Amino acid sequence: MILVTGGAGYIGSHCALSLIEQGYEVVVFDNLSTGHKQTVETIKNITGSNFNFINGNLLNPEDLDETFSSRNIDAVIHFAAFSQVAESVKDPAKYYRNNICGTLNLLESMRKYNVNKIVFSSTAATYGEPVRIPIDETHPQNPINPYGFSKLVIEKIMDDYDRAYGIKSVRLRYFNVAGADAKGRVGEWHDPETHLIPNILKSTFANSKTFQMFGTDYDTKDGTCVRDYINIEDLISAHILALKYLEAGGKTDFFNLGTKSGNTVKEVFALCEKVTGKQIQVETKPRREGDPAQLVADNTKARQILNWKPDKTLEDSIKSAYLWEKKLQENLKSNY
Ligand code: UFG
Repeated sequence: MILVTGGAGYIGSHCALSLIEQGYEVVVFDNLSTGHKQTVETIKNITGSNFNFINGNLLNPEDLDETFSSRNIDAVIHFAAFSQVAESVKDPAKYYRNNICGTLNLLESMRKYNVNKIVFSSTAATYGEPVRIPIDETHPQNPINPYGFSKLVIEKIMDDYDRAYGIKSVRLRYFNVAGADAKGRVGEWHDPETHLIPNILKSTFANSKTFQMFGTDYDTKDGTCVRDYINIEDLISAHILALKYLEAGGKTDFFNLGTKSGNTVKEVFALCEKVTGKQIQVETKPRREGDPAQLVADNTKARQILNWKPDKTLEDSIKSAYLWEKKLQENLKSNY
């Protein structure tokens, strides 16, 4: 059985769905602080699986005890975390407590119940301001915000837990995760939403805020930031491969998850106009604090060691995000 922490959130829900569809038994653990109970219900309905959902908090060791003591957990995929960079700068304590202390409790439970495999959602934010592009895994890790630092600390803790207690980890450093389930069954549902693609798409609906484009004076081909948008389904396939790698006795390791190619904010905006068939209003704003000009992943290591092959395009991601956003706007909110 696989424990999916944060399985009611954006990335965790896609992972739980994919695991169940591939025949894994799953237990989802989430405190619903940013995830949604409705997402769990949707996955149950789609798959016909009555998997266990634990409304639990990683900061409560009793919740973890209850989860581990009554189940045969073979491995953990750990998504549960706060992930907003700007919020982490304003309230670092929230990030250190939740992300670091929560993960420490999880690792302690793994020790206690002899579970020795974990796939962890890390981030490109652990690299900080890039000193070279594309960024490979040997790039220095100097995070410039508490969010990135919290994830880096966890990566270091995981190395020590392997050395001392034999817990094997795969840390997946995500670049910009984009899109939704291609069938539109689950998707990105943040409140407030800070990410580029959902914000552009949301602005096409009635009574929505005009899309704000942050910074048009960067040293890039059109003046806007370059990011490496990795499709959520490709991202999840890497998690399943990482799990299988650990199941096959793989050693602790870390991998970038990106496409090795970047797109500017203006390019993403233009593709959103193409996919939606709408002319989208845009308001140009100053740079958003802490945004590096470019972030592009070198994904060679994940291709070679995990045998991972991302194959979805940015347009695929925008199409699926739009399918989901329409559903969210037109149906979900009113029904829930
Ligand atoms: N942007 C806008 N308008 C918006 C939202 C974003 O112009 O409404 C711009 C940003 O300024 C940036 C680009 O679009 O240039 C991408 O921004 P996102 O917020 O979508 O993504 P980030 O690159 O800031 O952040 C992502 C993850 C973080 C992770 C980071 C790694 O969401 O969790 O990559 O650096 F930390």
